[in-house]
Amino acid sequence: MNFESFKDEAANLLNINFDGYKLKRVQRRTDSLMRRHNIDDYEDCIKMLKTDDSFKDAYLNHFTINTSEFFRNPKSFKYLENKVLPELIKKNNDKIKIWSAPCSNGSEPYTIAIILNELGLNNSEYEILASDLDKEILKKAKKACYNSSSLKNVPDRLMDKYFEPVPDENDLFQLSKKIKNAVRFEKKDLINERYSSNWDLILSRNFFIYLTKEQKDILTEKFTENLKDEGYLFLGNTEFIFNPGKFNLDKINLSFYQKK
Ligand SMILES: C[S@@+](CC[C@H](N)C(=O)[O-])C[C@H]1O[C@@H](n2cnc3c(N)ncnc32)[C@H](O)[C@@H]1O
Repeated sequence: MNFESFKDEAANLLNINFDGYKLKRVQRRTDSLMRRHNIDDYEDCIKMLKTDDSFKDAYLNHFTINTSEFFRNPKSFKYLENKVLPELIKKNNDKIKIWSAPCSNGSEPYTIAIILNELGLNNSEYEILASDLDKEILKKAKKACYNSSSLKNVPDRLMDKYFEPVPDENDLFQLSKKIKNAVRFEKKDLINERYSSNWDLILSRNFFIYLTKEQKDILTEKFTENLKDEGYLFLGNTEFIFNPGKFNLDKINLSFYQKK
């Protein structure tokens, strides 16, 4: 079996559409997982996906790459705190609507909730929705327990205010209930499902890097369509929109784009 046929059969079994992802990367990730599990060819890999649920989960985990952390790229979060959020607070009479897509283990949407709390807003003044394809990572996100590697950019003052060490655990910290309750999680496939609209700010960070240019353009258009006028799109530090005007966006900072 070649990789093309493997990919189509695996897509059915896993309920994922691989179109839109950089296929070379999917193949590399598949090959490395097969090596780790001593699987010799794609046919055997399909058999394992059919018969072994824990392998199926391992494949999905390996494919999705859930790396995330609080205040990832601190300079961009400073810009968010000092410019973008105050601007939104000033001009919004309604709830500020923020969407983290994809959210991985929750570090990103919880970072936003901490910043909004620090800016003096209470939970009823904003809505944060956080979406991801991977149901296992969403379970972790809802637990909101993190080790120090996810927390390395959190200033000491905020660490003391919002996190408690978990008793009898060496390196695990529980996020405060107030921040936990400020974020709503949902399972969503951002490539194949519809989006809800009217967002003031959409974060789509460290996701476009896995996608083909065509898929990236489709999603940029979908995100922009669902932003309010003058709403913001916040990307990862290594992700760029090469022709923002084409999408009705202005680039306003390294990682921020604003809808015209
Ligand atoms: C590297 S994480 C980025 C998390 C966070 N935005 C950040 O920058 O720290 C990428 C996430 O994309 C999710 N993902 C991959 N394909 C997806 C899809 N089609 N729909 C929704 N989420 C997807 C993965 O499950 C993973 O949690």
